[in-house]
Amino acid sequence: MIPVTMRALLDDWENRGLLYRIKKEVDPRYELGAVINSKQGRQPFLFEKIKGYQSSMAAGLGGDRDLVADSIGVHTSELIPKIIESIVNPIQTTLKETGPVQENLVTGDFDLADLFPIPTYHEKDSGAYYVSGILVVKDLSGNKRYTSIRRMQYLGGNRTNILITSPELLEQYSHFEKLGEPMEVAVMFGVVPAIVLSSQISTHLYHTDKLNVAGALLGQSLDVVRCKTVDLDVLAEAEIVFEGQMLPHEREMEGPFGELAGYYGFRSPQPVVEISAVTYRNNAINQTIFPSSFEEKLPMALVREATLLSTVRQVVPSIKGVHIPMGGVARYHAVIQIEKKSEGDGKQAALAAFASDKDLKHVVVVNDDVDIFNSDDVEWAIATRVQAATDVFIVPGAKGSPLESSHNLRGVSDKMGIDATYPLGMEEMFKRTSIPIKINIDDYL
Ligand SMILES: Cc1cc2nc3c(=O)[nH]c(=O)nc-3n(C[C@H](O)[C@H](O)[C@H](O)COP(=O)(O)O)c2cc1C
Repeated sequence: MIPVTMRALLDDWENRGLLYRIKKEVDPRYELGAVINSKQGRQPFLFEKIKGYQSSMAAGLGGDRDLVADSIGVHTSELIPKIIESIVNPIQTTLKETGPVQENLVTGDFDLADLFPIPTYHEKDSGAYYVSGILVVKDLSGNKRYTSIRRMQYLGGNRTNILITSPELLEQYSHFEKLGEPMEVAVMFGVVPAIVLSSQISTHLYHTDKLNVAGALLGQSLDVVRCKTVDLDVLAEAEIVFEGQMLPHEREMEGPFGELAGYYGFRSPQPVVEISAVTYRNNAINQTIFPSSFEEKLPMALVREATLLSTVRQVVPSIKGVHIPMGGVARYHAVIQIEKKSEGDGKQAALAAFASDKDLKHVVVVNDDVDIFNSDDVEWAIATRVQAATDVFIVPGAKGSPLESSHNLRGVSDKMGIDATYPLGMEEMFKRTSIPIKINIDDYL
């Protein structure tokens, strides 16, 4: 049975020796993040004692490809096909009268900092931030529900900023703002990796209910409950939920903040959220994701890989796999593996990749004897199969990502495609060396 609650997943991983339980008290200011970051966000942690608080905190649940696959009960090689299948065949959530997340309710006058820890991560961050909450909103028609993750800077009392970079959600907020009305939001903490993963699916591309996609990833309908003070549904088994409103015509400065690419972002005025209620389970386990760690990058990369595989396949049907590596900030680099059938396949695959994702800057295409998850192997293919004058192409001044520092120098990005496949008909010359017997190394060590 696949665990659908974070506490069940933590138990399961602890029983299998996959979780670090930290008994030593940690300070939410820098120390908590330093411990998580020592494993790059790839290792699950459960912190029992956060200085100044009673509740425990989990981190690092979704930063390792094998563990994410494990959390949804598939082999790592089936992860991307499973994401694609779940987008196509979502499973609807089930509305319940009540659920564990509403075992406790806080309303009225409260200070968020009195309830649960709010960590500070990087040296120059402008303050304490919630960085892992799954935001739930409805679209303008009121019929569709969307999830995403947006960092929220604690402003004191029951107020936070919210940083939204997606055009759809910004447009929606500005629609409410023009009417002078607040926009209702709910934010869920303490969820399994499938919920984080599905939240990264592009609304712009799929317009799908991402909690239903998460249900398909987990192979069952997920229970939801109606919020107490806003007209939104949240996961009945989440650990903590904030309910509130994005206020019209109110901005507070936020940033600098340690961003995805490992640099500090700019300071800018951002919308304000007023929290009207906090609900939580008995013995709630809080959750965080270290910003810019593998745990922030991997869900984005996996969802982008699913899209890339589907779109490149339209022009190069013999595509075998794609990898969006963490070193390329989970969005600027891609490695594409193809079974080469005709001479132009390599460059065509790279062109299709650039067309499908404006953020991509450098794409390498390799044959299917190259391990796309092994950067040494990819480099080996570039070293031994590429002649730059013919195999590398550069498109100057295309669209790029405003989250990328070098892009911001000119507001455009150059694209570089590297066809690291060898010419058709040259299989013998490019055949890799091998040893004709198999051994079990344990017999020797
Ligand atoms: C850990 C984490 C933190 C994120 N923080 C933000 C953020 O602060 N602001 C933002 O706009 N996007 C952030 N994102 C990316 C969005 O969640 C993502 O682009 C969005 O959910 C895509 O869905 P959409 O197309 O519905 O906007 C974050 C993603 C992750 C995994």
